[in-house]
Amino acid sequence: MSQPARIAITGAAGNIGYALAFRIAAGDMLGKDRSVVLQLIEIPPALPALQGVAMELADCAFPLLREVVTTADINEGFNGADYALLVGAKPRGPGMERGDLLADNGKIFGPQGKALSDSASRDVRVLVVGNPANTNCLIAAANAPALDPGQFTAMTRLDHNRATAQIADKAGAHSTDVRRMTIWGNHSATQHPDIAHCTVGGKPAAELVSQAWYREQFIPRVQKRGAEIIRARGSSSAASAASAALDHMRTWVHGTPEGDWTSMAVPSDGSYGIAPGVIYSHPVTCAAGAYSIVQGLAIDDFCRERMTITDQELRGERAAVANLLP
Ligand code: NAD
Ligand code: LMR
Repeated sequence: MSQPARIAITGAAGNIGYALAFRIAAGDMLGKDRSVVLQLIEIPPALPALQGVAMELADCAFPLLREVVTTADINEGFNGADYALLVGAKPRGPGMERGDLLADNGKIFGPQGKALSDSASRDVRVLVVGNPANTNCLIAAANAPALDPGQFTAMTRLDHNRATAQIADKAGAHSTDVRRMTIWGNHSATQHPDIAHCTVGGKPAAELVSQAWYREQFIPRVQKRGAEIIRARGSSSAASAASAALDHMRTWVHGTPEGDWTSMAVPSDGSYGIAPGVIYSHPVTCAAGAYSIVQGLAIDDFCRERMTITDQELRGERAAVANLLP
């Protein structure tokens, strides 16, 4: 019997946290054979609500749940963590871009990076969800001297899943028929959802839809789907974001299927000419608990132009938080 996995979640009493904790405890992240300890972190004013979450977790009597820790102390919350889901941060409201959150949210992630470096498992895998996720991830990684930056990732799996669902719908297929969707760049309206390598039911996606639909409808829809959800719900995506976070972690640990890949925002190693170090969404394969950027894809002029725009945005965000990067 292996040790339970220790999973830290920040912002655990928030909307995404509430959708996430129960599914992790039910085995949806690591599998139905892996017991878990949940280490739930909140700011002090939210601790009473967090107690309520812990009470409900107890009331579920989940077979895989061994222990629930609730705390506002990040070193206690990250202590020995094998996985850390950094969700706690302000969401945007209508009319805002995610980058507008950087001034308020960026400062959360330096201390959390340091606490992970001081207290988490040496093998911790970190997923940043709080927006703007890519640059918050950069801040956390830069403040974690004892950890490898490659242990820090940001979430574009929601964009990947959205793009997959949109193309499946347009092609009259199911999302499980879609392979090799790619999200390049920032989790923002500059991201580039790329179908050049994507197949649906084994056929090239680009042959199943018109270029006009791809460029004028699909791309902006995926780029702005977060805002579309905010307009409809009055608050940002929560259940779909939690589901994508589970997908991201499960794929990282259990691997991508043969012949397919996923999208993860990871530290750029200069592949495809992207600025080294920025947290840029790439197509990645995962195997044996590690991810690798898919190499050697042909990039046409349109895609290159879009990849550069989102790279430039990430360079700009990095420059804007230079004071938070030691
Ligand atoms: P929410 O306001 O419902 O919950 C956020 C929670 O974080 C609150 O309970 C708050 O008390 C807590 N919190 C704030 N600062 C904290 C800190 N320093 N430490 C620990 N906890 C802290 O928001 P939500 O809907 O759960 O969204 C959380 C974040 O996730 C937002 O920034 C949102 O924009 C982002 N998000 C990202 C994606 C993505 O695809 N990357 C998708 C959806 C939402
Ligand atoms: C999303 O993509 O749904 C989230 O990043 C929330 C937002 O602000 O769009």
